Amino acid sequence: MVSGQGVETQNLAYQNSGHQFLRDGAAVELANGSVNGFDSVSPNQQLLPLTAQVNSEGHLEIGGCDVVDLVQQFGSPLYILDEDTLRAACRQYRQAFERYYPGAAQVLYASKAWSCLAVCAIVAREGLGVDVVSGGEIFTTLEAGVDPQGIYFHGNNKSRDELQFAIESGCKIVVDNWHELKLLVGLAGEKRDGVHPISILIRLTPGIECHTHEYIRTGHLDSKFGFDPNQLDDVFTSVSQQPGLACIGLHAHIGSQIFELQPHNDLGSVMVQWLCKATQYGLPIKELNIGGGLGIRYTESDDPPSIDEWVRVVAESVRVACEEQQIPLPKLLCEPGRSLIGPACVTAYTIGSRKVVPDIRTYLTVDGGMSDNPRPITYQSLYRAVVANRMNAPMTELVAIAGKHCESGDILIKEASLPITEPGDILVVMATGAYNYSMSSNYNRVPRPAAVLVKEGDANIILQRETYQDLVRQDRLPERLK
Ligand code: LLP
Repeated sequence: MVSGQGVETQNLAYQNSGHQFLRDGAAVELANGSVNGFDSVSPNQQLLPLTAQVNSEGHLEIGGCDVVDLVQQFGSPLYILDEDTLRAACRQYRQAFERYYPGAAQVLYASKAWSCLAVCAIVAREGLGVDVVSGGEIFTTLEAGVDPQGIYFHGNNKSRDELQFAIESGCKIVVDNWHELKLLVGLAGEKRDGVHPISILIRLTPGIECHTHEYIRTGHLDSKFGFDPNQLDDVFTSVSQQPGLACIGLHAHIGSQIFELQPHNDLGSVMVQWLCKATQYGLPIKELNIGGGLGIRYTESDDPPSIDEWVRVVAESVRVACEEQQIPLPKLLCEPGRSLIGPACVTAYTIGSRKVVPDIRTYLTVDGGMSDNPRPITYQSLYRAVVANRMNAPMTELVAIAGKHCESGDILIKEASLPITEPGDILVVMATGAYNYSMSSNYNRVPRPAAVLVKEGDANIILQRETYQDLVRQDRLPERLK
């Protein structure tokens, strides 16, 4: 694999080439080779991973690896995850809490964004806990060696089996509704040791509106998640009467891909009010979990606040509200997903067919699509792309990037500005780390791509490419059909 050494630093004279998506001075930083060099750059404000640069061949490099070489070695499509960017984002969250919050704090990674062994292991090594929403995510996180004390189990319809698995593993449960509370009371009664109550947090719907896609908004009152805060007294009364349950915290999450800071500022003070109320019921609350939601840059016009700014607002709103109420600072938790993993990954595809519809549009088709990135068809999400083997070429064409699936709506990018390309060129779609692999499917029986983790010129497979055999692994053919 090509290493960062000997790579020529290109200046940014190529404003209309792939260079425009690099952050300023990208190549200079890589020479330092350390995550520390990235402290001042918030990954969620970048289109490409922090280590991205253009090498002397005019190819895109990530994590010291030439993307064209990676595709040659590991095949296409390929998720390419930059370890330094992921670690830098984890550290920025952690360090910002140290800077702005005088009490204890814990960052959790919302693993729904991308749950796999390597990602869970990296975030845990960076000192993060993990938010999980299913038995499968619990299992993956435990297999990755994460301390169960730092695993928080969410979900609006956890099964009895999932709850039991979480409790036996030592995870904390974020209780979403009355049905679940009842299940937990039953499970607490059955718990043999009888000594340790089950640690729970209560999820509430704060009724805070924010501007994001309707499907990814969760904090407004008309939401399937969490208890209605109008029932706060009933919930606290009920929980306080359960010796088998220790209510250690409160939780809220207002939505995802949020660029405004005000909703999280409001949420901090609302949650402190709930906390004051809970203490009146004698609940042993120590933790406030403010959820995730910080947005990332998918296109040049996206302008999210930095990780540092977001944490400052959250921390100050909780600190100030606690001062006003004259209560001790709770342990403050948050659980970002997208802003940790989203910008750390790109997807590399191989360009195939071209269809020109005169005076209307040119379609370039790649060898993946809605099965590896369902976000454009689901949320009309916008993405940007570069051509990894033509990073110096001027962008002179406006094309639509079509996926290969049998579905007209399978268009990854409606209007992509690209250099003139040929079949076999490597198209790289940026910021595909969050909710891409985790929402991927086998639609049209297309095998899922491989994922490689890149760092300082090394590339390691973290997810094997699926094979055709994998696709039929769960299929069963009844005898009479043989
Ligand atoms: N905590 C809870 C309880 C959540 O429901 C979520 C996301 C997060 C934390 C993490 O939010 P983040 O920091 O990633 O914004 N599939 C959609 C996103 C769904 C978000 C679901 N919940 C998408 O592709 O945009």
